[in-house]
Amino acid sequence: MSDQAAIGLIGLGTMGANLALNIAEAGHRIAVHNRSPDKTRAFHEQAGALRDRIVPTETLEDLVDALASPRTILMMVPAGAPVADQIDALVPLLAEGDILIDGGNSDWTDSRDRATALGDRGIGFLGLGVSGGAEGARHGPSLMAGGHEAAWAAAETVLTSIAARFGDVPCAAYFGDGGAGHYVKTVHNGIEYADMQMIAEIYGLMRDGQGRTAADISAVFDRWNGAALESYLVEIAAEVAAVIDPATGRPILDVIADRAGQKGTGRWTVMDAQRRAAPLPAVEAAVTARVLSGEAALRAEGEHLFPESDALPPLTDAELEGALIAGKILAYSQGFTLLSVARGEEGWIMPLDTVARTWRAGCIIRSAMLDDMATALEEGTCARPLAFAPTFAERLRAHVPALRRVVAAAVAAGLPVPALSAALQHFDQLRQSRGTANMIQALRDRFGAHGFERTDRPGEGGQHGPWVATDGSA
Ligand code: 6PG
Repeated sequence: MSDQAAIGLIGLGTMGANLALNIAEAGHRIAVHNRSPDKTRAFHEQAGALRDRIVPTETLEDLVDALASPRTILMMVPAGAPVADQIDALVPLLAEGDILIDGGNSDWTDSRDRATALGDRGIGFLGLGVSGGAEGARHGPSLMAGGHEAAWAAAETVLTSIAARFGDVPCAAYFGDGGAGHYVKTVHNGIEYADMQMIAEIYGLMRDGQGRTAADISAVFDRWNGAALESYLVEIAAEVAAVIDPATGRPILDVIADRAGQKGTGRWTVMDAQRRAAPLPAVEAAVTARVLSGEAALRAEGEHLFPESDALPPLTDAELEGALIAGKILAYSQGFTLLSVARGEEGWIMPLDTVARTWRAGCIIRSAMLDDMATALEEGTCARPLAFAPTFAERLRAHVPALRRVVAAAVAAGLPVPALSAALQHFDQLRQSRGTANMIQALRDRFGAHGFERTDRPGEGGQHGPWVATDGSA
């Protein structure tokens, strides 16, 4: 029936409400539902010119009845138990062939399990990573889908129509079965953590090492946003640094407490990466820094106990910019390596160049560099780190010296730059053909007879050293 809605949406919080308006604006009739009917009514009343395309519903039964068959319902409720409860409440009302889409920041393993469980009941499921915050949800998010391919085929038209576009290309893609979509979103968030941490570290060097004002720092970020670092996060770093707090007349950055929140996606990325032996030290450093940011009393005590610090050696803005460019490339390289490993292990389609393309617009980490990354990944560097792709290797040769100078200067002055230095350390390990793990192997064999491989007998494991054990035996 023509007056039935093409899609339903549950959860009219910031993201849900903005997505609903976006869907209506794209020309689709949408039925909406919120746990509290007042919120649903208020949303409908405030929808302005889009009101006619929005069907407010008071109960889940009303919502389901308002939808054209097969029904598609986008759930925008908090990750974890609320999604599970929502699915439990909906399933008895659905028929075979209907589709549920989870658009929250769910753990990809939950989405994997939900795809299986719902599939067994004949219900389609998509775990949909949605990035871009409120603005993105309203005017074009980046959408990362995973789950049942048939569900994607059915929902693709609506989802693609509301996604951000980079030129003509919509930033929406299907990456594979199970939790593939939420996996890509989780890694996106891990990279987001590293990106933000590196920006904060450079800000810290300018603030604490160079004594610069927020206004000056804002101007620097603004300049960088016009060149190689052009990106949403650098753009809004310039913006927030320029804002004055109306209550005190001081820069808003100077009145915001230095404690970062986190909802878990960064941590999940790191845990999954370690599990797959594809670590992302830059993201790990960023997650750790957020944790330590919450330890204000401990940090104050530490500063009191160990107050000594030296002046920051001179650094030019070009060096700071170069450090951020190199750090960013290395962090993204780590992220794409993890995606490549996960893709192989999980059997996901997940072309890495498509991932980069999907991140070029709409999402929080969107940047000019992602377009070049998409091209480099398309050229088949998937099995090797993105950092080794010719165009990025060239950029690293140009900018790693600056990263080295910036990290060295920060270390000399005792100013923490954990993500930048983790990126550099990982890079240096990756370019050391003769490492130091021979010492680790000798120690393991000495204390536990764990065995090692000799360089003069490659491929033969289980060799032992002529150690003299502490009990006197050889
Ligand atoms: C996005 C963001 C978003 C995330 C926030 C906060 O892509 O739009 O990643 O999904 O929820 O960035 O995340 P944290 O609270 O973990 O910083």
